[in-house]
Amino acid sequence: MTNVLLVHSSLFGDKSESLAVARAYVSGLPDARVTERALSPSTVPHLEASTFAAMRTPAAELDAAQKSQLALSDTLVAEVEAADTIVLAVPMYNFSIPSTLKAWIDHVARAGRTFRYTEKGPEGLLTGRKVVIFASRGGVYSSESPAAAFDFQEPYLRAVLGFLGLGDVTVVPVEGLAMGPDAAASARAKAMAEAGRLAAAAAERKVA
Ligand SMILES: Cc1cc2nc3c(=O)[nH]c(=O)nc-3n(C[C@H](O)[C@H](O)[C@H](O)COP(=O)(O)O)c2cc1C
Repeated sequence: MTNVLLVHSSLFGDKSESLAVARAYVSGLPDARVTERALSPSTVPHLEASTFAAMRTPAAELDAAQKSQLALSDTLVAEVEAADTIVLAVPMYNFSIPSTLKAWIDHVARAGRTFRYTEKGPEGLLTGRKVVIFASRGGVYSSESPAAAFDFQEPYLRAVLGFLGLGDVTVVPVEGLAMGPDAAASARAKAMAEAGRLAAAAAERKVA
């Protein structure tokens, strides 16, 4: 059994392109138990100062109000900790990630829980998990594109996930979706093929 956490962050919910490819990937994984976390401002609101203060309070000193303020963060962290594979469906918004996904990261990045500071510098505590990101974009940002320098989606995610110990990251671009119907169809087909290939490779590792 593989525990999969699927986190999706598009404004368009079930009509999301990144989610469609992510779901195709997840459905091809063998023996997967899937938890889905749909992000929106109502399900995962921005962090508040009082919640951040509770995050920095030692567990033994938390009062009842602080414990309840931490409940959402505790749930989101537990979902990540329970996962063997974390799948992120992430549209590019204004060259970066949706603010809902940033809010999720702010709830999951917890000193002493998902990372810690040591004498040798910061250490991520979420090691041993795979991350697969389906990164959708209206334009094209892959390395040979002149727009590559505007991509703050993939580099940011690699940096912050790495900081948390999640260094095993595969990114599948679904890009060129706003560049006409032919480009969009070809982007979808290419990403779906890659999703199928990655799921088949995961299945092979499982039987090997
Ligand atoms: C608010 C907003 C901002 C966007 N900004 C960008 C952008 O900076 N670059 C880009 O290539 N596409 C941009 N797009 C297009 C989306 O990236 C594209 O529609 C999305 O990847 C489709 O994936 P989804 O269906 O999963 O949301 C933007 C779309 C929205 C709604």
